[in-house]
Amino acid sequence: MWLTWRAATQRALYGENGFYLRERPSAHFRTSVSAAVGATAGAPVGAAVSATAGTSAVLAGAVLRELAELAGPSGPLDLVDVGAGEGALAVGVLALAPQELRSRLRVTCVDVAPRPPDLPEEIGWEPVVPEGVEGLVIANEWLDNVPLDVVEQTSDGPRLVMVDPSDGAEQLGDTPEEADLAWLDRWWPLGPVGERAEIGRPRDEAWASVIVRLARGRAVAVDYAHRLGARPPYGSLAGYRGGAAVAPVPDGSCDITAHVALDACAAAGEGVGAVTTTLTTQREALRALGVTGARPSLDLAGWDPVGYLRALSRASLEAELIDPHGLGAFGWLRQSRS
Ligand SMILES: C[S@@+](CC[C@H](N)C(=O)[O-])C[C@H]1O[C@@H](n2cnc3c(N)ncnc32)[C@H](O)[C@@H]1O
Repeated sequence: MWLTWRAATQRALYGENGFYLRERPSAHFRTSVSAAVGATAGAPVGAAVSATAGTSAVLAGAVLRELAELAGPSGPLDLVDVGAGEGALAVGVLALAPQELRSRLRVTCVDVAPRPPDLPEEIGWEPVVPEGVEGLVIANEWLDNVPLDVVEQTSDGPRLVMVDPSDGAEQLGDTPEEADLAWLDRWWPLGPVGERAEIGRPRDEAWASVIVRLARGRAVAVDYAHRLGARPPYGSLAGYRGGAAVAPVPDGSCDITAHVALDACAAAGEGVGAVTTTLTTQREALRALGVTGARPSLDLAGWDPVGYLRALSRASLEAELIDPHGLGAFGWLRQSRS
């Protein structure tokens, strides 16, 4: 059976017994959230997340600062985590929030996967982003899992790549539909015969559907990204299973992911009413939020050795998040409605 990559990935990841409906993401790959997920996921809300609690706690602190910037003097404040996975980021933010902010927070995780059994009751779990969000929407490594089609350049122009889900074999199919050809022209013009592109239109639409649900505040998408003029000439489709990169076979046995054209998502967000846009790297975004990776002074080791070790551990977690050759190279797209 031959399917487009979009249809095959949809079935493999989200169809009956699909990868994301049965697997815990942190068992298969590390994200900025899950790098040390064991240290925070499922921790009782309100329990102090120590400085050594992991990369997710560092990210949670940064997200809390982003959220605090959006808090007016009073009233409810939403935190919506889209593609929340195991909900570790939401748990981490709640744990770190000072009481006055926490009492105003409405925290919602959005995921197509079932609600994790140990998620604290005060965190909502929804299959779609609620209407009228007032606060912060964060989507860490969500858009790269929105299925898309793959095309290959031929002497007759771009043709869809069809895949056999049982073994990943490929053959060329039809010409893409007009809207997809227009997307390729605008966002990923193909070069010589043999070059490939991934049609990001479903991701643009997914992102726009978030922006329209924002009544006030900001939405942030964090992902592996590329920009117009620097797209990977043969695409970026990849598979992950059990912590290792594997061939992207869409049979439900592995994650299927591809880097995100965040610049196209930004334009889609503007098309539905985003009034401010910034597109930067995780390194720059987190440094501006106080994540510097700075090591503690050696003097501290003399009078507080435990504190010194804790600070050193935190510095190394921060450094991992802002590593320009690793997670720090991720794109951060921020858009607001007001
Ligand atoms: C790579 S995981 C990221 C998990 C978490 N945000 C992290 O950074 O560790 C992607 C998540 O997005 C979810 N997802 C994919 N498409 C979705 C959709 N349309 N609506 C809600 N969640 C979705 C998947 O089920 C999965 O849990």
